[in-house]
Amino acid sequence: GGLFAAGGRFSGSTDPVMEKFNASISFDKRMWREDIDGSMAYARALTGTGIITQAESDALVAGLEKVAAEWAAGAFELHPSDEDIHTANERRLTEIVGALGGKLHTGRSRNDQVALDTRMYLVKEERRVMKELATLLAAGVRLAEDTKGLLCPGYTHLQPAQPVRFGHFVLSHLFPIVRDVERLQQIIPRCNKSPLGCGALAGNAFGVDRESIRVDLGMDGLTENSLDAVCDRDFVVDFLFWHSTFLMHISQFAEDIIILNLSKSVKMSDAYATGSSLMPQKKNPDALELLRGKAGMALGRLVGFMATLKGLPRAYNKDLQEDKKGLFESIDTTIDCIQIATGVMATMTVDKDKIAANLCMEMLATDLADYLVRKGVPFRETHHISGAAVRMAEDKGVNIGQLSLAELKSLHASFEEDVMEVWNYEQSVERKCSEGGTSLKMVEAQITKIQACIDSI
Ligand code: ARG
Repeated sequence: GGLFAAGGRFSGSTDPVMEKFNASISFDKRMWREDIDGSMAYARALTGTGIITQAESDALVAGLEKVAAEWAAGAFELHPSDEDIHTANERRLTEIVGALGGKLHTGRSRNDQVALDTRMYLVKEERRVMKELATLLAAGVRLAEDTKGLLCPGYTHLQPAQPVRFGHFVLSHLFPIVRDVERLQQIIPRCNKSPLGCGALAGNAFGVDRESIRVDLGMDGLTENSLDAVCDRDFVVDFLFWHSTFLMHISQFAEDIIILNLSKSVKMSDAYATGSSLMPQKKNPDALELLRGKAGMALGRLVGFMATLKGLPRAYNKDLQEDKKGLFESIDTTIDCIQIATGVMATMTVDKDKIAANLCMEMLATDLADYLVRKGVPFRETHHISGAAVRMAEDKGVNIGQLSLAELKSLHASFEEDVMEVWNYEQSVERKCSEGGTSLKMVEAQITKIQACIDSI
């Protein structure tokens, strides 16, 4: 008999392929701790309903403690019939405490149970990610601090544009991560709500006190509607989006460092580079390329899971089991990327001479235009005059800083002896002293802000 009794290879009551297809234990077992914590809270809440006695509740909790100890010791033995972490734990609990184990699930469904477990597991991991982000930012701050005195080209369109402090450039990659910290702080409370007591879809018929469960589990709130609670996976989407955004930022950082590595302006530590199996001279920035590449699959997991959710009817449907693999991969990838990015930042060396050599006087053409502005010439004119100076230098085969006063004067009468002071990278940078600019004072103010973010974690 059974669902697949129609003959052919469907000879037993359950097709073994279907069993494998349906099971989630291979990946959801990582939520064993949360599943047990939720069950303990539920066992305690059940005493308040009169369904089980205090002694029975204590026995259930003690049994669950034993199951947890087995998981912690790596001694939990999975049975072929364990479909998911919920059925596995209940099966084992019943082996330990006997028929009493069968009372635990009273009024509960795997639908509210899995929603609870996934939320609790994700909150735990989000908090871990937060701590790791503090380490990453700390490595970044050290790099910014070490390089705040070093001037380098700033680029637009990958073309040399204006000189900036290298530390300013480093900080430009840290503030996106500060925003990621803020966004993570925002999604955690939304995830940290308890759906337990919503039952399969309609609510709990035994009057369990959902609020006491929430307090017991230390969560921030209760889900508001039972039909919604068992199929809401917004908290998963929130994290997948968060992860995609974070990796987009990491990808941009990696690309910038790959470009700097190309001119040997920065060098990767051997710990984060690899050789070629064929070309002996090669040292490839593999760590950076992987950091750059991870954002692609991250985005795929976000879009893929949203496509899974789209069009689902209320309430629980098995499609929802598809939430976990992508979520777990995203968590693991996040941690990996933070640790590698931290290592890269902490160990890469900045070649001050190579970086200084990349500065060129043409990057001060804007400063030359600004010089004339200060002499009272309208900027639109000075922009044109400075452009003419760039062309004149090009025609003469010199750099713009080598043009004589007479040559400059031939372009505009307002040029005077003090124009030679324009050709100074340090002064150019120090003039950018508006809030968020690249002057030393403003770079140091930014470092203080990053430090405050780290301290807040
Ligand atoms: N393994 C399932 C999941 O991850 C648990 C919920 C199963 N509920 C059910 N009614 N089949 O979604």
